[in-house]
Amino acid sequence: MSDHNAPNDGSTGHEWDGIRELTNKPPTWWAWGFYAGLTFVTAYYIIYPSTPLNLKMQGAINSITGTEMFVHGHSKGIMSLVNGNPFYQGENWTQSEIDALEAKGFNELTIKAGDRKFLDAWTAINEMRDDVAEIEGVRADNMAKLASMSVEDILADDNMRQFALGRSVVLFGDNCAACHGSGGQGNLNKSHPGESFPNLTDDDWLFGGWPAKIVETITDGRQAEMPPKGGNDELTSSDIDKLADFIKNGLSTGDAELDEDGVLTKGADRFAAANDLFQETCAGCHQANGQGSMKNGDFDTGAVNFTDGIWRFGGDLATIKETITNGRKGTMPTWGGRLDETTIKILAVRVHQMGGGMDAEPE
Ligand code: HEC
Ligand code: HEC
Repeated sequence: MSDHNAPNDGSTGHEWDGIRELTNKPPTWWAWGFYAGLTFVTAYYIIYPSTPLNLKMQGAINSITGTEMFVHGHSKGIMSLVNGNPFYQGENWTQSEIDALEAKGFNELTIKAGDRKFLDAWTAINEMRDDVAEIEGVRADNMAKLASMSVEDILADDNMRQFALGRSVVLFGDNCAACHGSGGQGNLNKSHPGESFPNLTDDDWLFGGWPAKIVETITDGRQAEMPPKGGNDELTSSDIDKLADFIKNGLSTGDAELDEDGVLTKGADRFAAANDLFQETCAGCHQANGQGSMKNGDFDTGAVNFTDGIWRFGGDLATIKETITNGRKGTMPTWGGRLDETTIKILAVRVHQMGGGMDAEPE
């Protein structure tokens, strides 16, 4: 227990469970550290916005001193004297100043004309706002540049390509990812094949992967239509079985091969009957060689290539039969009018760079 009569043994006489409190002076280095800390805190208090006050006292002090020592319930700090940021001087915003900031791409402005400008003091928020304004300025310059460039120009200019790709992440996520997947990998919906969406990261195109064509697809949308039974009501279910077998086990695996005239150069013994049906009903869109409309210079029909093993709706026999029997109608929405031209260019750059971008329309 403690003993209040200080004994003459260099201790205060306080003792707890055998631990005594000594009267030694703190070391000099420690004392200096303490004073330095005190000085720093005092200086910081004077230089930076700090001391809180209630608004009544703030008004009183400001009117006595005839200055705005205190704003928004705290001292402004003398930093505001040396670091007068023109954006945040103590006046009110005018509409033209706000317009000028917005024209710079400062799109998070929530102030209106007549509002007091932000604190005319140094604050971390003001410093951040300055930095943001600088970044937004660069962004606005780049956006203006993008608006005047073609997709080909953007792809050829490394800086602008990178900038566009950066901007595209959120745009793609907001507008396209719901159908095409966040990485553009598409979606083969096994339980609802009709709700499948094409993969944009491969070089298998329905309509074409050169810049102008991608812009056209995004702007105008697409409605590829596979008519039920290929438009031929005479097809029986055994015909459909034959066609599905031909597509799945012949064309897509390479066990059957067709030349430009629709003649089987491989698999003729097994698939001759199916190929007759195919040439009669399906080749008009999927082409005599089964490679789809695009491979043969038709960039609008969107008829699938059967020879690459890549499926639009699904490559199992049941799905193929369902596709042939009932047809399919995929809809890529129209974005022109909903997204501005620069945004569409940015998205076209992204789609082009996802994997299978073509340089130009094939010969
Ligand atoms: C509602 C679903 C949906 C949304 C959202 C959507 N797409 Fe599509 N997209 C499709 C479908 C379906 C197709 C295939 C068209 C068809 O089968 O008719 C397609 C096709 C495409 C193609 C053509 C691919 C090729 O092989 O030629 C491109 C390019 C494309 N979309 C880009 C985009 C971009 C960019 C966005 C965002 C702005 C977007 N899509 C948003 C459903 C969608
Ligand atoms: C009028 C043109 C047209 C005709 C004729 C046509 N198709 Fe199609 N077919 C398409 C289009 C377009 C698509 C893609 C639909 C989409 O993306 O929305 C397609 C898709 C398909 C698919 C889906 C393949 C996959 O990857 O999932 C199969 C299977 C198919 N067709 C089989 C046939 C067969 C068999 C015939 C003949 C009986 C035929 N088509 C006739 C236009 C046609």
